[in-house]
Amino acid sequence: MARAFLAEKYDPIVFSEYFGNIHPVEMEIGCGKGKFLVARAIENPGINFLGIDRVSKFMNIGKTRAQKRELSNIRFLRAEARAFLTEAIAPASVSIFHIYFPDPWPKRRHQVRRVFTPQLLELLHARLVPGGLVEIATDDKDYFDAMKKTIAATAQLWENVREAVNERILDGLNKTHYELKWAAEGRSLYYTELKKR
Ligand SMILES: C[S@@+](CC[C@H](N)C(=O)[O-])C[C@H]1O[C@@H](n2cnc3c(N)ncnc32)[C@H](O)[C@@H]1O
Repeated sequence: MARAFLAEKYDPIVFSEYFGNIHPVEMEIGCGKGKFLVARAIENPGINFLGIDRVSKFMNIGKTRAQKRELSNIRFLRAEARAFLTEAIAPASVSIFHIYFPDPWPKRRHQVRRVFTPQLLELLHARLVPGGLVEIATDDKDYFDAMKKTIAATAQLWENVREAVNERILDGLNKTHYELKWAAEGRSLYYTELKKR
């Protein structure tokens, strides 16, 4: 199954044509049901939002929510993050990337499936506008530590690397589906924010 996803090809997206305006664009990678992104799109009509997930089943819930609200500033696409960012997204075009509760794949032999890798971080940097942000959250301390190592290896690319535990750095009110689920279970939630130099 994973091979089929990686074999997919994506056409380049020109955001001004795709959204019909030149507003800033925020993307959520692995948006699941799109709960956070729909809420943020409602509150920010002057920003465009694109949610991607490699599985459409849950994302369709977000699509339906957005359609019911008749939101014109949000789109959802089924896509694999790395290939999609490489092929479809122009350099210096995204103002904020949101990556919340990516699958942790705790077994060592499965960790190659993790979405947050050094290659992804390089791509995020290249696709961000100057001063753009990457917002990250996870409940998995091991994954968080691995992410921090990856970030430290590219420290020259980022300024204002902020961290928090149990406190969302950006947009404290709107939460993702998993954020609410894990908080209700009393898990520690780890957050970090990177700002492109
Ligand atoms: C645990 S869910 C988190 C969903 C949402 N961000 C939240 O916090 O509620 C992780 C999501 O990432 C998606 N995902 C995993 N690897 C991906 C990849 N390489 N590209 C795109 N989406 C991916 C999964 O399909 C899943 O929907």
